Amino acid sequence: MERNDFIKSLGLGIALVCTGSCLSSCGKKGDDPSPNNPSGGGVPSGTTASVDLGTQLLTVGASVVVSGILFIRTAAGNATTSFAATQATCPHQGGSLNFIQASNFIQCSLHASRYTTTGSILAQPNDGGTTSALKTYPLTVSGTTLSATA
Ligand code: FES
Repeated sequence: MERNDFIKSLGLGIALVCTGSCLSSCGKKGDDPSPNNPSGGGVPSGTTASVDLGTQLLTVGASVVVSGILFIRTAAGNATTSFAATQATCPHQGGSLNFIQASNFIQCSLHASRYTTTGSILAQPNDGGTTSALKTYPLTVSGTTLSATA
């Protein structure tokens, strides 16, 4: 092997090693243990949203989004224990969350992650990424007004 050929092959080998180590350290998106939505999809602290129980959430399984909070009626009656309130935007990448009454879970419209009405994770996103538990908000009932405060 000529000296010039040896130097060229050495340079190519170094370039391949550098490229390989750079690519392997980058990893793929799904390896990231933290959700990709920096704000986590929650509403700002101090946000209060209200629902008129005289006209909304009349039946068990009904849901509505008000000011970024997903309200769900989980039982009959107007006690706070008859409702759940979670963030309405997915912690993964900000997809909208919907309550699926027939299956009794909350599902993301973007990558189909699933959550219980108390915010626990039932299924991770179908893109290989990772989500986190939903934020839930304390509820109060005054007359026919149901309120949740972040
Ligand atoms: S944005 Fe909800 S699972 Fe990806």
